[in-house]
Amino acid sequence: MNTVFFDADVSDKSRRQQLYDGQLFVYSPTPSSLALVEFVRELIREAFEGLDPETAQYRLPVERYAAILADLKPRFIHHSASKELIQGILRELRFDLDETYFDVPRMRTATSDDYLTTGIAYAFHPHRDTWYSAPQCQLNWWMPIFELVSGRSMAFHPRYWTQPVRNSSRGYNYGEWNRTQRFAAAQQIGTDKRIQPRPEEPMDLDPQIRVITPVGGVLLFSAAHMHSTVPNSTGRTRFSIDFRTVNIADARGFRGAPNIDSECTGTTMADYLRGSDLSHIPPDLVAAYEQGDGVRAAS
Ligand SMILES: [Fe+2]
Repeated sequence: MNTVFFDADVSDKSRRQQLYDGQLFVYSPTPSSLALVEFVRELIREAFEGLDPETAQYRLPVERYAAILADLKPRFIHHSASKELIQGILRELRFDLDETYFDVPRMRTATSDDYLTTGIAYAFHPHRDTWYSAPQCQLNWWMPIFELVSGRSMAFHPRYWTQPVRNSSRGYNYGEWNRTQRFAAAQQIGTDKRIQPRPEEPMDLDPQIRVITPVGGVLLFSAAHMHSTVPNSTGRTRFSIDFRTVNIADARGFRGAPNIDSECTGTTMADYLRGSDLSHIPPDLVAAYEQGDGVRAAS
């Protein structure tokens, strides 16, 4: 990877190819991304009942804080307005809605000073989403809900775009995770016992790249990028939105970023909804990914 594109006016197809090559795309806020931010801010304000959400962590016992997030996050994820606004963002950034499938958006929180870094506010260790059963063609979308500064952002570790890392993805299967561990997030306070794919060798996290956009600005990157949560000591909690997309033609053609070290099985393919009509990816194509990209690449 070597390039960050700002508000680039390129075709959907060539943008996807650049993303599969590890480049980053950054967009100024769009009407729908700003509406999504405004919608989620309202939900957050309601949930924290008058406390400033960015500093509420200093006013609440951690168990209460985790309980608020455990109630708030699913309400945002499954709200029909969230889906409509994502469709709007895709349209505004000229993605083909018939070919582009998206999953429901997540709200992330990165608290300051190690207040809560497990479970419902997990501070992500360096990882590729492709270690978590995402297809190699998955694109990740990321945007801040409140003002973002470098010290509470997310970081890319670009040397690992081409350098494999020994990791435990071979033990990860998305279907298995959903059945056994996903719903335990809110209970993981202090330590997090859920089994996640991790690096199994020391890593050099520098040089790193942090992209700071205005509120509602959009960062797009390949799911194969090595990235992590920046340890936050800014005195404010970071709130952000992310979601993922898959292009169906690329999925059918098994196109995407190169797989250099992922060995997980299972697939997230059944989660995505078509931009135009919210239909699911056909079961035969989901099944084609069930053994994992790593297994297919090795066979
Ligand atoms: Fe990630």
